[in-house]
Amino acid sequence: MELDEVETIAVLGAGNMGHGIAEVAALAGYDVNLRDIKEEFVQNGYEQIEWSLGKLAEKEQISEDEADAALDRVTPLVDLGEAVSNVDVIIEAVPEKMEIKKDVYADVEANAPDHAIFATNTSSLSITELSEVTDRPEQFCGMHFFNPPVRMQLVEVIAGDHSSDETLDLIEDLAEAMGKTPVRVRKDSPGFIVNRILVPLMNEAAWMVYEDEATIAEVDSTAKFDIGLPMGLFELTDQVGLDVGQHVLEYMHDVLGEAYRPCPLSQEKLENEHLGKKTGKGFYDYE
Ligand code: CAA
Repeated sequence: MELDEVETIAVLGAGNMGHGIAEVAALAGYDVNLRDIKEEFVQNGYEQIEWSLGKLAEKEQISEDEADAALDRVTPLVDLGEAVSNVDVIIEAVPEKMEIKKDVYADVEANAPDHAIFATNTSSLSITELSEVTDRPEQFCGMHFFNPPVRMQLVEVIAGDHSSDETLDLIEDLAEAMGKTPVRVRKDSPGFIVNRILVPLMNEAAWMVYEDEATIAEVDSTAKFDIGLPMGLFELTDQVGLDVGQHVLEYMHDVLGEAYRPCPLSQEKLENEHLGKKTGKGFYDYE
């Protein structure tokens, strides 16, 4: 399939990443089926898109008409069959658990048209292993956006062992059509490139505070004002979601070893459902 044959995209999962990806795709002119397992989840994702488009219009980055047109292109859905049966590309952004994603791909395979390309927004999991759940592993690759998708420029396009060059080329072209800069990741290793570097950095920051070597404010000040990151490492953890960071780290710990051991500080926050911005509380308070 060529880029100009792509008209409709399904985005599976309406959480932080899913609704952001759906917004980016709709802004690029694609019809988008945004799907989640519950009406309230999909509705919340839709409202987040509406909020974000409103912000972009308020700041004159897009016009009011462009915001309305983009929102009109998004169809919120709960029925998986309906969401994937008429689409050209499926971008999956469901929770970062291998078993959940595998179950979703089994259902998607049964309902998607033969020509459809599967692109997973996984942050760390094996593309090859996920692709093998389907009957079309050559039409499967990683398409990893960053949070918040509407603001972040990079997209990692990750080759699984079976991904064809045609699939990778199409997904790179699609990322460019969405105004993003794709980087091809040749090796399907845990965390790919960005998270392999970034998530251990966030974990190391947590260890420093846990072991009383620095405060959150001290770490975040150095991250912003000396290391030159756009946000402090704890601010970033709250932005990404502690649950998402933890899933990535646990997988890296399982596959790559002890150097990636998650810090108990994050564990405590997770047990209290302090997941970051999305729950109003993480390392900082947002209420
Ligand atoms: N849509 C529209 N507007 C948004 C928005 C969104 N999704 N998110 C934030 N904004 C708005 C805010 O409401 C705020 O508006 P007001 O000024 O009206 O209050 C405004 O944008 C803030 O924007 P600024 O440009 O002033 O802020 P900034 O210069 O700090 O940029 C940022 C914000 C782009 C998020 C920047 O801080 C940044 O780049 N942070 C790093 C993010 C990052 O590294 N993400 C990757 C995380 S790793 C990951 O995602 C991978 C994974 O798999 C875990």
